[in-house]
Amino acid sequence: MFEHTSWGKLSRLRRIVANDGRSLMLAIDHGYFMGPTHGMERPAEAIADLVPHIDSLMLSPGILTSCVDPAFKGGIVLRASGGNSILEDDIDNEGLILSAREANRLNASAIAVSIYIGADHQHQSLLNLANAINEAAQFDLPVLAVTAVGKKLKDKKEKRYLSLSSRIAAEYGADIVKTYYCEGFEEVVAKTPAPIVVAGGPKLDTYHDVLELCYNSIQAGAIGVDMGRNIWQSDYPSAIIQGVKGVLHENLTVKEALELVDGLIGDATRRKSKFEVTEEDIKTSAIH
Ligand code: 5RP
Repeated sequence: MFEHTSWGKLSRLRRIVANDGRSLMLAIDHGYFMGPTHGMERPAEAIADLVPHIDSLMLSPGILTSCVDPAFKGGIVLRASGGNSILEDDIDNEGLILSAREANRLNASAIAVSIYIGADHQHQSLLNLANAINEAAQFDLPVLAVTAVGKKLKDKKEKRYLSLSSRIAAEYGADIVKTYYCEGFEEVVAKTPAPIVVAGGPKLDTYHDVLELCYNSIQAGAIGVDMGRNIWQSDYPSAIIQGVKGVLHENLTVKEALELVDGLIGDATRRKSKFEVTEEDIKTSAIH
């Protein structure tokens, strides 16, 4: 992994990928098009008990500067594509919202750009990735490509489609590819010559499902997860994140990780809900 990488880029990547070659990235960037998403209404409070357990944070620049302590030692992956909201028909009409120069100034470890293969704005999203990679090269700044599906393609999370998207991202020069897990995921990994992290997707029914997703992803060759809603929309976020960390960094089985999570469930790890959450909020936050 990262054999042909320059020292500067490697140094940044080492803040995202731990010594064991695994990566636990906490995704909290959803607000860049979903606004105050259920569970992430107040980012500083929502991440306070989570940051000790993660390798990096994936977030938008405004949340970094307003909600994250500059003493945070982990990796910082800044959302660099955007320009849309959930009020549009779909969310694939993106441009670049953050320059590599600004990301460098913010001490980012990487920038993240979404591509929407097969969507109306596929072409523009691919140019966004290409432009970001070319610009980021000047700063030895790694680029994480996000194979996004938007609203219309959300049922296309299967190996043919995900291999196509992930391979295109690697062909453009992405340093890490974020995609979804699917049946036959080994094939997606095998056909993508770049390290892969798996997105969590909408909230799953049980902690067992979340841990199994992480476990299966690693077994299939992913280097880690970039997970959001399944952590911070859960009732016990700091319990489940420790289970995920156990699977990734301590090679726990699903059963062992579940026992760990069960033992951590209690008042200390409970999510402090302060806002009314409607069925509509939950449905909206599951659109991609
Ligand atoms: C938003 C994203 C998210 O970072 C990504 O979907 C991971 O979060 P989740 O685990 O909630 O799916 O790219 O567009």
